[in-house]
Amino acid sequence: MSDPILDIRGLEKTYKGGVKALDGVDLTIRRGEIFALLGPNGAGKTTLIGAVCGMVRPTGGVIEAFGKDLSRHWKSLRRDIGLVPQELSFDMFDKVIRQVRYSRGMFGCPADEDRIEEVLRSLSLWDKRDSSIRELSGGMKRRVMIAKALAHDPKLLFLDEPTAGVDVELRRDMWRQIDALRERGVTIILTTHYIEEAEEMADRVGVINKGRILLVDDKDAIMAKLGRTEAHFTFDAPLAGIPASLQSYSLHLEEGGTCLVYRGGDGTGKGKREVAEIAQIMTREGIAFTGIDTRESTLEDIFVDLLNEPEVQA
Ligand SMILES: Nc1ncnc2c1ncn2[C@@H]1O[C@H](COP(=O)(O)OP(=O)(O)O)[C@@H](O)[C@H]1O
Ligand SMILES: [Mg+2]
Repeated sequence: MSDPILDIRGLEKTYKGGVKALDGVDLTIRRGEIFALLGPNGAGKTTLIGAVCGMVRPTGGVIEAFGKDLSRHWKSLRRDIGLVPQELSFDMFDKVIRQVRYSRGMFGCPADEDRIEEVLRSLSLWDKRDSSIRELSGGMKRRVMIAKALAHDPKLLFLDEPTAGVDVELRRDMWRQIDALRERGVTIILTTHYIEEAEEMADRVGVINKGRILLVDDKDAIMAKLGRTEAHFTFDAPLAGIPASLQSYSLHLEEGGTCLVYRGGDGTGKGKREVAEIAQIMTREGIAFTGIDTRESTLEDIFVDLLNEPEVQA
């Protein structure tokens, strides 16, 4: 693997009052990827981002960004890091373009009107540059947040729940924007509790719960490893038991024998193949079924299963 852009080891955060928001987080982010951090409310996503973006002081562990220790090189490193925070925050009476300029200045970057124009145009905000923020729709306000985070050309961009409370159309629009940033070489870490967002956008997915990372892998590998096929074969007349010729498959009977349920496979197509085999065997043996209903598990099913797994450690 090429040098990681971000390497987090053993990160801990206990807030005053005793809430342990991060409990030994190890996470490595690759240059140029879109990484989705999935987790329910209170999992520690914002705390983790805050630790990298200098808003939360960790109580343990190490963060290296661009190969350097973040706590020792914060001043130089912060220029390469951008954050679109979860909460909208700006001066509502200020003009769009001024807010974006101001953000750039905050990072100690020299004024650069060409760059500001480029950022505003890329987010379709150029026409709104002289509007005051309060005149904008919710979606446009979100875009201004992104413009502010991009004004200083960060190489590593965090988006904390970028599409929370945003309607479907705007969400898709946002995804296109994020994709365009990746095309330009920006490494992106986004947090979300919309599984669909991770499924659509991410190269890799990490699942966090109660301050611990439960799983990190390529999205496709997660689907392959944890994906399942479920099929329901229905019958008019109930079966007395599972036919001998089908004993090797993972099957059980439900609904008084009128529904034969298959659960198996691994997301690589094995499940579908087995379902087809089962249908062939039954047809050959004259076991008449009236219907087959098949579905593949989604990232959402996998996520729910993971969060419901009994904890290994107390
Ligand atoms: N400033 C804070 N002071 C005390 N507790 C906090 C603070 N911020 C977050 N927490 C707590 O830390 C845990 C993780 O919160 P957070 O990182 O915001 O999770 P997420 O972003 O995944 O919803 C939660 O239990 C939350 O209540
Ligand atoms: Mg959060």
